[in-house]
This record gives sequence, structure tokens and C-alpha cells, in this order.
Amino acid sequence: MSQLYNKIIELRKEINQHNYNYYVLDNPTISDTEFDFKLKELESLETEYKKENPEMDDSFFSYSPTQRVGGETNKAFKQVEHKYKMLSLANTYSIEEIKDFVKRAEESLDLNQELEWVCELKYDGVAISLNYKNGKLVQALTRGNGIVGDDITDNIKTIRTIPLELFGNDYPDEFEIRGEVIFPHKAFEEFNAQKIAQGEEPLANPRNAASGSIKLLNPKETAKRKLDCFLYFLLTENNPELNSLTHYQRLQKAKTWGFNIPSFMAICSKMEDIESFIDYWDKERFNLGFDIDGIVIKLNNIQLWDRLGSTAKSPRWATAYKFKAQRKETKLLSIEYQVGRTGIITPVANFEPILLGGTIVKRASLHNADIIEKLDIHTNDYLYVEKGGEIIPKIIGVNIEKRELGAKKIEYITNCPECNTPLIREDSEAGHYCPNYNHCPVQILGRFEHFASKKAMNIDTLGGERIKYLLDHKLINDFADIYTLKEEDLIGIGSIDESKKTTIQEKGATNLIQAIEDSKNIPFERVLYGLGIRYVGEVVAKKLAKHYKNIDGLINSNFLELTQVDEIGDKIAQSIIDYFSNQENLSLIQKLKSKGLKFEIEETFLSNSLEGLSFVVSGTFEGYSREALKKTIEDNSGKVLSGVSAKVDYLVAGDKMGPEKKRKAEKLGVKIISEQEFNSMING
Ligand code: IVH
Repeated sequence: MSQLYNKIIELRKEINQHNYNYYVLDNPTISDTEFDFKLKELESLETEYKKENPEMDDSFFSYSPTQRVGGETNKAFKQVEHKYKMLSLANTYSIEEIKDFVKRAEESLDLNQELEWVCELKYDGVAISLNYKNGKLVQALTRGNGIVGDDITDNIKTIRTIPLELFGNDYPDEFEIRGEVIFPHKAFEEFNAQKIAQGEEPLANPRNAASGSIKLLNPKETAKRKLDCFLYFLLTENNPELNSLTHYQRLQKAKTWGFNIPSFMAICSKMEDIESFIDYWDKERFNLGFDIDGIVIKLNNIQLWDRLGSTAKSPRWATAYKFKAQRKETKLLSIEYQVGRTGIITPVANFEPILLGGTIVKRASLHNADIIEKLDIHTNDYLYVEKGGEIIPKIIGVNIEKRELGAKKIEYITNCPECNTPLIREDSEAGHYCPNYNHCPVQILGRFEHFASKKAMNIDTLGGERIKYLLDHKLINDFADIYTLKEEDLIGIGSIDESKKTTIQEKGATNLIQAIEDSKNIPFERVLYGLGIRYVGEVVAKKLAKHYKNIDGLINSNFLELTQVDEIGDKIAQSIIDYFSNQENLSLIQKLKSKGLKFEIEETFLSNSLEGLSFVVSGTFEGYSREALKKTIEDNSGKVLSGVSAKVDYLVAGDKMGPEKKRKAEKLGVKIISEQEFNSMING
């Protein structure tokens, strides 16, 4: 085999190991950037190999970690019969019934000894079944009707905790493993935040979202959702070695092959232990990063599974206890209407604080006018608030019996609570919004906060209080004014509330001015996101920046062209057209351009030309800021170190280089090179 082939195999192994360390063991040994870089390298090696060997079988590529981003779009899912029927579990909300279940199993086995039960979390997601042949994932199926499922292999391959190739050599040649795909809270929230930013309806809850995500026709879309998967049930045939292990031991074995197995398991012989596991997780479940809806109890000795058998629907060796959703009644105090930076109004109910699912809850979103109408909320009503598997408390109803005599039905507001402008509700939309884009004070404040936020211009320490002060004192009127601020404008400013003592001191002012200055290096896509154009979230901004390359291209575009850009629909396109037809916005962009903000993309140059070399950067440079120079070194596979030592290969010397660094470099024999010499190293 060629050297290139061997390199690909080696790199795949290395990446698979890092993936496992990160996702399954939760113990990464390299940085995300290093990981991404290795993956990019593998991608380019595979492209090269494909070119050189066009006859190579596709299967050579299909188990590679490069396939995690999702391949071709499917037209429909193939229906495949399950090798073993995919049963469900009997379930109950009653501990008594769990006791009966355990007793029945013990009696029917009649072994005169206590049995071992494994308690696991009951993941609230979608069941899948994975088939492995010779250590490779060959097929993934949904449960379907239990007999026939959909072939969702391409989507499943995008889930990073599911191994495409297994570690070790003691796995069966052929086996099936079943588990649950879940949408972790963090990923779910991020995904919904993007949806909202793009003007789309957020997904209702992580379970439905996980189920929808694995059935998407375009695997690239599934890849974006950062799903996770726990595998909890191994099925093998004629494998004496594995069949002599317990269920618990088999899962531990599966872990060594690379599978993500249930994170919390307990082997219990006494009913009290099962009960305490249930009680513990009934409270603790709210601190997990994903939803569970109960506890699964399985017999540990798998040899006894066959003896107990199953009913038509579920096995007799396992059952599930389901948690009750926590529901409490509380009194409505007020309804408040929040105005977002794009003018969207969100009604929020404030109620008397209650302890729900381990936290004190005193408010919940009512989402929009339709929901208030449907719940038929009146003043001082008693509300039922629920927190189930889901993270966010939800108002699910009203106790009409407790309604006060003469209570008034809640009338939705007609004018903006901040600027009194009449609200608008478009036919297709559930929500109302305030159209006073340029003058509604809360929208302006929100837009400034968004502009300065981490994901946009990342102006550290320019938070809401300070922005409010600057706006109120007319020190800033638009984003461009931020770039004219001087230290003396900032010293002494702070909270409007003098008692809060958040006034900026000299050092704070210097830091803030520096952060403002640094923000000029923020790439175009984030500047575009920071402008706060309605429906242009992070992802859309990236797509637009990539497509148009600069702001002028985008300004001069038209509706049709916009809708042809990947992921840009009519609504987003119209919002962009509206934004750039406003003269005030165009002149703001001119002003920001003159302040030096980036309005075009910089093609990053990625190469291996500095591989294995370490650099220290000192002084100031003509063609780069110091940060940009460091990034260029990293983009070309070099390493940046902070101090001169024997480990350093080159000191890139700029103007006004530190004399100490120079002396040390000379002493240690570290090569000192100029900016020009550095440029010729990367440009060849
Ligand atoms: S074992 C034959 N273990 O709950 C039984 N199921 O309501 C195989 N589930 O269909 C399932 N967590 O989708 C098992 N730790 C766990 C589970 C689990 C979630 C799901 C699974 C099952 C459903 C039953």
C-alpha cells in the first residue's frame, strides 16, 4: 500500500481516538483547533487519494471521520426489516408496580436467591438500532413499527459519539446494538437561538427535535444539530464469550469498542436500592444536560432473559419507572411584555415563586397572544405550572374554580410598552412587533448590546448598564460613535444608579478603549451579524459573507439572487432588502467602514508550510497586527509560543522588538527573522 494510504489509515485512527476521548471519556487530550486541523488534513489527504485512485471503492471512504459532516441528500428512507423485533418497555408511574414486577420475576425464576437488577436512566429521545459488521457501522435503523424501520445510516453517521469503526479486536463479527439518540440541552438551546434569530419557530422540545433531526433528508442538516447517543442494549448470537457476561459487563465491554454507554448505572439487589436510585434521579434529573423521563430496570443476568421471555410488546426482564411531571399551582401577579432588539414582543407571566424541579421559578413565557387567548387567562388567576423532562417551566392551564369574582380577561397590549408605537402583527406570524426600529429605546439598547456581544464585536465590558449611560448622555447615537470614544469620555461613567458603584476607573477605560480597538479585527461575518439585521443570525451572516465576500456585493444584490444563496428564504431576503433600502443604515455602514471595521472577508490561507516549527512574535509589523500574525502562523500549522526558549525555532522581529527577547534569542541560537522573511516562508 502507498505511503499516502498508510498516512490516511494512521490519521483516521488518531482522529477516532481523539473523538472517543472527547465525547465518550469526556477527557480530551488536544485542543478543538488541533482536532479541526487534523480533520482538515485527513480531508485533503482523502481527496488526493481519490484523485490518484479513481477506481477505489466508495466504502473505503464511508467509515472515515470526515463523513461526519453528512453526505448526499436522500430522497426517501429505505424501509428495512429488523433482524430482531424492536420491543418497547412496559412502564409505570407507581413504585408499587415496580415492586410487583421485581417480585413476579423473582418468583417465576424461583432461584431462591436475590437477583441483580441494573438501574439505568431512561433517556427521553428516539430509539435506534445499529448494525456492525467486521467492526464497521453498516446500517442504522429507526424503531418504526418495531418490525420494519427506516434506514437512517447517513444521518446517524453524523453523530460523533457513534463509532463508525470500532476499537480493539474482541467484538463479534456481526452484532446489533440499540440505544437512544438525544438532543443535549446546550445544543438544543443553541439550535433554537439560531432559529429564532432567523425568524423561524423554535423547536418545541428536545425529544421531538431529536426525532425530527434523525429523519431529515439532508444529513448535512442533521450534522449541524450536535445530537448525542447512548447505547444500552447489545444483541449477539452464538457468542459464548459475550453470552457468559452480565448485561452490565457487556456494556462495559461495548465501551472499550468505542460506544457511549449509559452514564449512570447501578447494580441493585434490594428493592430499597432500586427505590433510592429512582428517588435520587427524580430530583437530580434537572441537573443533567439532557432529558430523561424515568428509570429503566433490567435483569443483570442475561441467561435468565430467555427464561422470562416477553409479551407481544415488551420483555419480562426489564421495565420502566416514569417520573411524574412536576406541577404546581401559583398565583399570577402580572404579565409583562418584553421588547426584543428586533422589536418582537414576548409576553411573560410573573407569578408567586414556587419550588419546581429543584429550582425556584417565578416567571414563564407565554410566547404570544394566541397562547394567552387559548389559556383564557384572567387577572389574579391561579396558574398550573409544569416542569417535566423539559428544561423550561410551562404554564399549562388555569384553575378556573379559584378565579376571583369580577376578574378581567387579559387583553393583549396594542402599543409598545416602551415607546407607545402601535404594534403590528403580520398575518403569517404568531407574534406582535414594534415597528419603531430606529427610535424605540429598548430596541436601540438591545441592538447595541447585540453589537458589542461576544459572538459579534466582542467588546469586553461594554454591557447594558454602560451602553445605557452612554446613550442617555448622548455620547453615542449609532454604532460608529463607539469608535470615536476616548478614555476621558469613559472615566467616571457607569451605572445610572450611582449607588451601584460600577463607575469606570482609569484602567477600565484603557481596557475598554483597547477592546474597542481590537474589535476592528473582527471578521466580516461577525460584523454583519453584529449589525442586527432582522433574521440574520450567526449562520445566515456566515453564509452571506461567504457568498458575497464583501458588503457592497450584498448591498447591490436583489431579492432573487439572495434567495438563491444556500439557506436564505424569502423572509430573510426581504429583511435584508428592507435593511439596505434604509438610508440611515447605508450611511452607518459608510461610517463604520471609515472607522476601519472589516466589511470584506479575508481568505484564510491554510497550509502545512510551518508544520513542526515554533515561533515567538515580538514588536509591531507592517502587514499584520500581532494577533493576525499569530493567526497566520497557526493557519499554516506553526505553533506560537509566548516566551523565547530553546524550544523556539524562530523569533519574528518587528519594529520596537523587546531587547530582552532579542538577547535571549541570540544567546540560545534562535533564528531571528524579519516580517519579509516570514512571508517568504509561507508563500514559498
Ligand atoms: S432498554 C427491549 N434502556 O425507552 C428493551 N430503553 O419506553 C430495550 N429507553 O423503547 C430498551 N432509555 O427507546 C432501554 N436505558 C434504557 C433506555 C431505554 C430510554 C427507551 C427505549 C424504549 C423506551 C421504552
